[in-house]
Amino acid sequence: MNLKEAERLYLVNCGICHGAALDGNGPLFKGGEGPYSAKPATLVGDPAYEAMAPGTMFYSITYGKGQMGSYASQLTPKQRWEVVAYIKSKQKKAAPAVAPAAHR
Ligand code: HEC
Repeated sequence: MNLKEAERLYLVNCGICHGAALDGNGPLFKGGEGPYSAKPATLVGDPAYEAMAPGTMFYSITYGKGQMGSYASQLTPKQRWEVVAYIKSKQKKAAPAVAPAAHR
């Protein structure tokens, strides 16, 4: 697994919407002032996406989700898994482990 290459793929294909920091605020959206009006998923910082299974992400990248198109023709399955791994690696860094006591 080459995370550097995965980062490049992410920045080229996804960063424009999801942001270089994976915060869902790339240049196309820009807090709602950009030309793209749909709010991209906040991949880092939103617990719902932090908890999303890699397979679910892969599925959405392959088939599209809501306003987001399919990336099946731009990225090979291997490249899609690499981008998912890149997102997951960033999520682990950004989200400190929640103490078990916080869960019920
Ligand atoms: C043109 C803007 C745009 C681009 C480019 C884009 N996305 Fe998205 N993405 C969105 C929007 C908008 C949503 C929210 C869709 C919804 O929930 O309806 C989203 C949602 C997602 C989700 C959550 C899916 C789910 O099942 O809820 C993931 C994961 C994701 N994007 C990953 C990526 C990856 C990886 C790339 C690059 C290969 C990418 N996106 C490129 C706009 C974009």
